Amino acid sequence: MRLIIAVDGPAAAGKGTLAKALAAALDLPHLDTGLLYRAVARQMILAGLDPAADSGEQTAHALQPEDLQRNDLRVPEIDRGASAVATQPPVRAALLKRQREFAMASGAVIDGRDIGTVVFPDADLKFFVTASAAVRALRRYQQMHGMADPVQAELEELAAEIEARDRKDAERPVSPLRKADDAVLVETDHLDAKAVLTHALSVVRSRFSA
Ligand code: CDP
Ligand code: CDP
Repeated sequence: MRLIIAVDGPAAAGKGTLAKALAAALDLPHLDTGLLYRAVARQMILAGLDPAADSGEQTAHALQPEDLQRNDLRVPEIDRGASAVATQPPVRAALLKRQREFAMASGAVIDGRDIGTVVFPDADLKFFVTASAAVRALRRYQQMHGMADPVQAELEELAAEIEARDRKDAERPVSPLRKADDAVLVETDHLDAKAVLTHALSVVRSRFSA
């Protein structure tokens, strides 16, 4: 079956973790669309361009598959750069085409901010995964630094960066972060990643056994 499942939500909500696990469970390809915006920002910075001021259109068109494989795409400079280029309509248009082509080939679980609203408004199933800003900041912190007691000042700085990025993503005029009306809301403050997957799989089963 060529299913398209959209997973959207704010930063560090667990979208990628859920999308990857769902894809494995359903034998579908997974696409993390945040990597596209991150890769555009990185390529721009390497070329001496400023993602907040210069056009990323050419860079988005020239993006190569290997640009997404880098392990230095999840650093604060790229967090900010991705969120800045993501406000540019020509960049979004270039990346939209790639996202649709990827998922149309054999279905996909695809995660981002606007998958259920713009990229695949007719997706077979949509999830909107969220959690409070404090929980999300702690998740990202632990992802980066392990489970030891967090350094409070660093955690607060990370929480402020995440909240600023969420605000920018939700307030931009083009493809803002927003729950699609028909998306299943998954509040994860009190659910670990395994419980979120179990819940999502039960939604998949009930939706597609009907
Ligand atoms: O893709 P997104 O930025 O939404 O988040 P992620 O990178 O998938 O998840 C951030 C961290 O939260 C990872 O270390 C996950 O293991 C953890 N986590 C989760 O994904 N889901 C939960 N319900 C709880 C924690
Ligand atoms: O993992 P995390 O949730 O922190 O970020 P990400 O999913 O890798 O996305 C990085 C940035 O790319 C976001 O803050 C958005 O500005 C942008 N993005 C977007 O605008 N639309 C998408 N479909 C995916 C990401």
